Amino acid sequence: MQKSQPITFVIFGGTGDLAKNKIFPALLDLKIKKCLPEEYKIIGFSRKDLSDSDYRDFVSDSIQKQNNGYNTDDISNFLNNIHYIQGDINNVDTYINLNFSLKKQDEKIGQCTNKIFYLAVPPNLYEPVFTNLDKADLISVCDKKTENNWTRVLVEKPFGSNSLEAQRLDKLLGKLFKENQIFRIDHYLAKEALQNIITFRFSNPIFIPIWNRDHVEKIEVSLYETNDASDRGHFYDNIGALSDVGQNHVLQMLSLVTMEDPKSLDSDQIRSARQELISKIIPAHKNIEEYAMRAQYIGYRDESGVNTESKTDTFFQIKLNINNKRWKGVPIFIQSGKSLDKKLVRLKITFKPKESCVCPVNNTCHYGNEITIDVQPEEKISLKFWSKKPGLDFGLEQKELSFDYRENKTLISDAYEKVLFDAIKGDQTLFNSTGEVETQWDLISKISKKWSNLPLIKYEKGSDPESLLKLK
Ligand code: BG6
Repeated sequence: MQKSQPITFVIFGGTGDLAKNKIFPALLDLKIKKCLPEEYKIIGFSRKDLSDSDYRDFVSDSIQKQNNGYNTDDISNFLNNIHYIQGDINNVDTYINLNFSLKKQDEKIGQCTNKIFYLAVPPNLYEPVFTNLDKADLISVCDKKTENNWTRVLVEKPFGSNSLEAQRLDKLLGKLFKENQIFRIDHYLAKEALQNIITFRFSNPIFIPIWNRDHVEKIEVSLYETNDASDRGHFYDNIGALSDVGQNHVLQMLSLVTMEDPKSLDSDQIRSARQELISKIIPAHKNIEEYAMRAQYIGYRDESGVNTESKTDTFFQIKLNINNKRWKGVPIFIQSGKSLDKKLVRLKITFKPKESCVCPVNNTCHYGNEITIDVQPEEKISLKFWSKKPGLDFGLEQKELSFDYRENKTLISDAYEKVLFDAIKGDQTLFNSTGEVETQWDLISKISKKWSNLPLIKYEKGSDPESLLKLK
């Protein structure tokens, strides 16, 4: 990274949960690791009436709550670089004001800074932000002739709330920014255990010949959470579990574990391998009742911001197939939900049993193997295999070989740290391309169009997700 190039971060939604819980701690971690330029400024933007000093208190509280053992000097140096601008996100005047402040900051620094505009706001606000950035001439804040400076925009998921909206937003973004300025975040792609899938699959020749329909019996991708929707009922009620995490995190996990060899670490090749795979995903059956189920936790309709008659899904399971040579016919289950009894993000690949096995007669076991990739809370890869039980009889027992990423805990970076680090570097590998977002929405919109044909099953808060899974 060119450390000498100063940067200004502008965070829209600067007082929101994302800024508080993820963006500020990640920026501070990057600062401590000396991965930010010497000169940097962070400007929080929100409608709340706060002074710079109130805002620094807010940021300081959020950071202290993370309890990451930061020392006070690091925190106070960091806070000195933070400023606040109050404004209405829909009003162009606030952006003109922002432009003025950015110029003033740049004058103080003595040179034009690179700019990152981070949209940590709900998707319905993307359009007014993009349009107003343009109207207030913020897309090229510095002297337009300066070639060395850049402006980048970071957009959270979900990008739009259906394929039409995503296409419309993309068209607008495409008019204002070049593709290499647009960073569409899916923070799951930046999780260490998921980044490792490419290495695990394509740098270990032992797994390559068995990673296909001849050997794999089924694939499961699960994203289970204990938290409910209470902290952002209104946002959640408009999208539901399938669009909140199914359209993005879950499909991206599936793409990594099933895509073709990208042949290199080149960003475009990896992104097109992921997109190509997603474009081949189809529902496993014709009727939605056979390939999908949806559910809602009891008490969801009482959450603040949620419609009292809401039919929004807080849990789903979908059975899919991948229509290509490698995976044709292999059942794939994706499943996710909130308010469950566990937080668990896991990919499981079950291998077919051998037709005739050298094992005790009358066995009832499925003598296959399993590879599990744990993403959360553990970051682990495990291989289940069979072993002879020690003793005089020839019994079999299941054993596990595993590698735990957390053995090297100090080296593991938070996903948002990696997102910001790569955005500063300009590396788009772990960000969605426009094509990926479109193919994700194409699939999810096809399914969600028929969503209302499905009964909405009710489940107790704190349920075991396995007890809710219905599809075979
Ligand atoms: C977000 C979803 O993208 O991911 C949230 O909007 C979800 O609903 C979150 O809770 C899960 O992220 P993580 O990193 O905590 O597993």
